[in-house]
Amino acid sequence: MMPSETNQVRPLHDLHPSPSDMLAEVTEGLSSHPKTLPCKYFYDARGSALFDQICEVEEYYPTRTEISILRQHATEISQAIGPDALVVEPGSGNSRKVRLLLEALKSPAGYVPLDISGDHLVEAADKLARDYTHLPIWPVCADFNQSIAVPQEASDAGRRLLFFPGSTIGNFDEKDRRALLERFAQLCRPHGGQLLIGIDLIKDTKRLEQAYDDKRGVTAAFNGNLLTHINRALDGNFIVDQFTHRALFNRAHSRIEMHLVSEIDQTVEIRGQRFAFKAGETIQTENSYKFSIEGFAENASHAGWRFERSWSDSENLFGLMLFSAERP
Ligand code: AVJ
Repeated sequence: MMPSETNQVRPLHDLHPSPSDMLAEVTEGLSSHPKTLPCKYFYDARGSALFDQICEVEEYYPTRTEISILRQHATEISQAIGPDALVVEPGSGNSRKVRLLLEALKSPAGYVPLDISGDHLVEAADKLARDYTHLPIWPVCADFNQSIAVPQEASDAGRRLLFFPGSTIGNFDEKDRRALLERFAQLCRPHGGQLLIGIDLIKDTKRLEQAYDDKRGVTAAFNGNLLTHINRALDGNFIVDQFTHRALFNRAHSRIEMHLVSEIDQTVEIRGQRFAFKAGETIQTENSYKFSIEGFAENASHAGWRFERSWSDSENLFGLMLFSAERP
């Protein structure tokens, strides 16, 4: 028998995200000029562990700063959101940050974690349920780039609050960013709803570049692991040591770019296809866009979001912004 205080996580709502075609995406990227690779392939098991380590290094300020903003302004954030919100988190991962939000909010109506990895999702939901015994949890397995949906039962539970922390939005270029924010707004129709989103703020070049090139070399290992992942998944023969990690702030595009620079002239083979590199040639592996509060408010307004307010740290490193969905 289940003890009565055990929270029952609702059955997984599986939208069966179609697996992406890694070979096609990788060969397309390596055939482009300049060469690119999709940043989503950072996150195999080792890459995810390395990312967790990045969040702990001294130079990488976003994670701890966002957490401190959530803690410091919990009461105001809670008041601006109001009671009985249904918290929907696209890309919920380990559901760690949402705890701070759930603790701050007045009687949240429920939590809908949405993630592409079904196993991790259920594990994280179960763990959360043990600590939030009265909170209904409706896990949804989906790729938020393909489709977002809230189960019917959850849908009736309350006003929606979309929670998108971590500056994940920074990985999207302008066109994709707008499309994603539009889909988020769509999810709030017709009843309305809010978006609480974390953005990394524009700052001096040195601070930004150090955050993506820490002294301990954790970010360099994270970047190089992309090649290890490709080697394993697609029988590639990258020699990881022949590529050097580079992070630079491109101020004209307001983004950190991560690259892997070929040390020498070399050829790499992936499933019978050969890709030639010149010494000094780079593969662009990630863009991480940086924003001003005003600039992002402007961006979001084109996707149906009205800016309500924002919170930041004393050094203005990171911003948490609250929007409400415009009526269409
Ligand atoms: C997970 C996309 C927010 O851009 O800061 C960290 C990823 N890459 N260090 C970021 C990342 C290198 C991170 N995001």
